[in-house]
Amino acid sequence: MLTADENRLRLSWLDDALARFEADNDAYVPGTRSLLNRIVPAPALHARLINTLSMLEHSGSHKIMATRHSATIDKATLKHVAEEAQHAWFMKRQAERCAGRQMTYAAGDLLAPASARMYFQRLEAVVVRLLGRQCGSQAAYLYMSMIVEFRALWFYRLYEQCLKWAGHAMSLKRLIGEERHHLIDMAHRLELAGELSDARGNHFLDEERKLFLKFLGALQRAAA
Ligand SMILES: [Fe+2]
Ligand SMILES: [Fe+2]
Repeated sequence: MLTADENRLRLSWLDDALARFEADNDAYVPGTRSLLNRIVPAPALHARLINTLSMLEHSGSHKIMATRHSATIDKATLKHVAEEAQHAWFMKRQAERCAGRQMTYAAGDLLAPASARMYFQRLEAVVVRLLGRQCGSQAAYLYMSMIVEFRALWFYRLYEQCLKWAGHAMSLKRLIGEERHHLIDMAHRLELAGELSDARGNHFLDEERKLFLKFLGALQRAAA
């Protein structure tokens, strides 16, 4: 149980980090919005985007399973993996509803799949390269998850707005609530482990932004 002071400390780190993330990514809001505004009204294209998000959610849950399978896996991690798998299922169901057919994770049913996979792989390499020498795999899992959650929250909020503006029936409210909870939980667990550091967090978020911009560019080309 955290004391009130510890709680304030943790929340203030996260508040600052979120504010910095917003500021650092502000320039990419219009490009992301116009991409989404182009995709959402086009069902075939939109289905491929949703299916790509399903694949990314699935990769996230698979990655947790593959790296956190020891005897010491805790309840929080099991809950996390279950929710990411649930997000993959939710997105798959929405993609198929949008397409009016079954969809696989084969390239033709996705948008910029090579870049989507590369985003994850390169980010993981950045995290493992820095932490591998200094900390255990638990810290790598927590950092990797936390950094991805910053982007998931940012992207899903923009996406939710575009869906609303387009009068689309799909709602991301529950998913956004869970991603937000994951972000808080990862920051909390990093702090409890004594691994939460501004320098590391900022370094990973800077690297993530470069990787996201490459992925965004690939999505823009695929949707053009
Ligand atoms: Fe998720
Ligand atoms: Fe998540």
